[in-house]
Amino acid sequence: MVFELPKLPYTFDGLEPHIDTRTVEIHYTKHHATYLANCNKALEAHPQFSEKSIEWILSNLDQLPEEIRTVVKNNGGGFYNHNLYWENMNLSGAKEPTGTLLSKIESTFGSFTNLKAEMEKTGLGRLGSGYSWLCQKKDGTLVVLATLNQDCPLSDDLKPLLVVDVWEHAYYLKYQNRRAEYLNSWWNIVNWDVVQNRFNK
Ligand SMILES: [Fe+2]
Repeated sequence: MVFELPKLPYTFDGLEPHIDTRTVEIHYTKHHATYLANCNKALEAHPQFSEKSIEWILSNLDQLPEEIRTVVKNNGGGFYNHNLYWENMNLSGAKEPTGTLLSKIESTFGSFTNLKAEMEKTGLGRLGSGYSWLCQKKDGTLVVLATLNQDCPLSDDLKPLLVVDVWEHAYYLKYQNRRAEYLNSWWNIVNWDVVQNRFNK
């Protein structure tokens, strides 16, 4: 099995002005691609996992041989988390949640505005590197949480619905240390059609 870099649903300048062209290019062709290469490299000597999906692998890290577990957790997580991040952004697409997803957001957080504030606060509070997520628990309830480094919510039995990368490499060229500004601007490029599809699955 060799995992592949998913094609971006836009060109490198497709998230301007909220995320600049150079950041998307470096983030995708260097950071994301390196996680992918390291994940494939770690798994190539273990063909018993060749038919497994990245989702299965990250949900079953305890079944991996100990010598590759940490490297796959970090690099498989880096591969998968970025897949979700790129996918849930676009200048086009629904700019707000609707229907059952919106109802669920309102019953959990009070309002869509509150959800946004919660994800921004969580992303801002993530000391060091990681992500801010909207996830769904097995019982169907929604939760906002931060993960550290390349940890993935799948490993904690959570279904990811929406993610924002808060590693400095995601925003430093344009925003420098102003992570709050990046997080606030980021809502302009969230594609809620993708979030809705994940919620429906
Ligand atoms: Fe990243």
